[in-house]
Amino acid sequence: MGPERSLARLAFAKINLDLRVLGVRPDGYHELRTTFQSIALADALTFTAVAGPFRIVCDDPGCPVDSRNLVWRAAELLWKAGRRSGAPRDMVVTIAKRIPIQGGLGGGSSDAAAALVALSSLWRIRITRARLLSLAGVIGADVPYFLEGGTVRGQARGDHLSRLPDTPRRWVVLVVAGFGVSTAEAFGWWDTAVGRDGAVHGSQTAQERRGALTGRTSGDGQLGITNDLQRVVSRHHPIVARLVTALERQGADHASLSGSGSAVFGLFRHRADAERAARALRRTGARRVVFLTRTLTRQECRKLAAK
Ligand code: C5P
Repeated sequence: MGPERSLARLAFAKINLDLRVLGVRPDGYHELRTTFQSIALADALTFTAVAGPFRIVCDDPGCPVDSRNLVWRAAELLWKAGRRSGAPRDMVVTIAKRIPIQGGLGGGSSDAAAALVALSSLWRIRITRARLLSLAGVIGADVPYFLEGGTVRGQARGDHLSRLPDTPRRWVVLVVAGFGVSTAEAFGWWDTAVGRDGAVHGSQTAQERRGALTGRTSGDGQLGITNDLQRVVSRHHPIVARLVTALERQGADHASLSGSGSAVFGLFRHRADAERAARALRRTGARRVVFLTRTLTRQECRKLAAK
């Protein structure tokens, strides 16, 4: 038997069960405290050894297949880490894109993490897990999380990880309105609303402004918000707040924006309730896409990813 020539991997999406923005860091990124949670919505990737330049093929025309794709970045970084000369080659990556782009679901980051693992195996690049995590962090702040999966606390840029006990399984209704939100743009809106200056380590005024923004101290009935970006994103896209309310009305235990959006999710204990909510949400908006999925534990991610 020769070396393996092809690998198939599922790259699961995440939601953020909560997300606090604690301030602006000296490197310009935002200090975060978030809870990542894997869900059973996935891109399907195949990695096939084919002579010639490195290539990405994707069935979604909205997904770049050049160096803007984080899989490309993963391939370049790994190639260099393996001390290979020139540009990456002899590999075609096909991506069946199922995770909506710019949804706050980490699709591109999850693809990149899957690529790091699969390509290191196919290219026979021996690399420690610590080094893999550090390459992941270079690609993007939430890429290290996808090497882990399950329920994980993310701090600093979202890349300092600590495992949490698996959350009990929940059914997830995911609603993606007909637009995406870029992460950089959402944090820019946050800066405008809160002010970059005072947010560094939370002067009292900045904290007060944050409180007013997140609804925690303003007494406006928004105490359920646990994603600090939800209010600013809703200001630019009011449909986000309406979808959160709609999911709550449909009986979600918890509903929120995921990451920087645009996806909004609702959590349900029982599948039948989630199905009912998904049907109701589908009926009321033409341009939106509604997914019914569920949370995945770390073990489930590991087991299912290689299928
Ligand atoms: O790391 P990543 O490329 O995914 O981040 C995209 C953008 O989101 C960054 O350029 C930055 O503007 C913003 N961001 C941030 N703070 C974080 C994560 C991302 O400001 N913790």
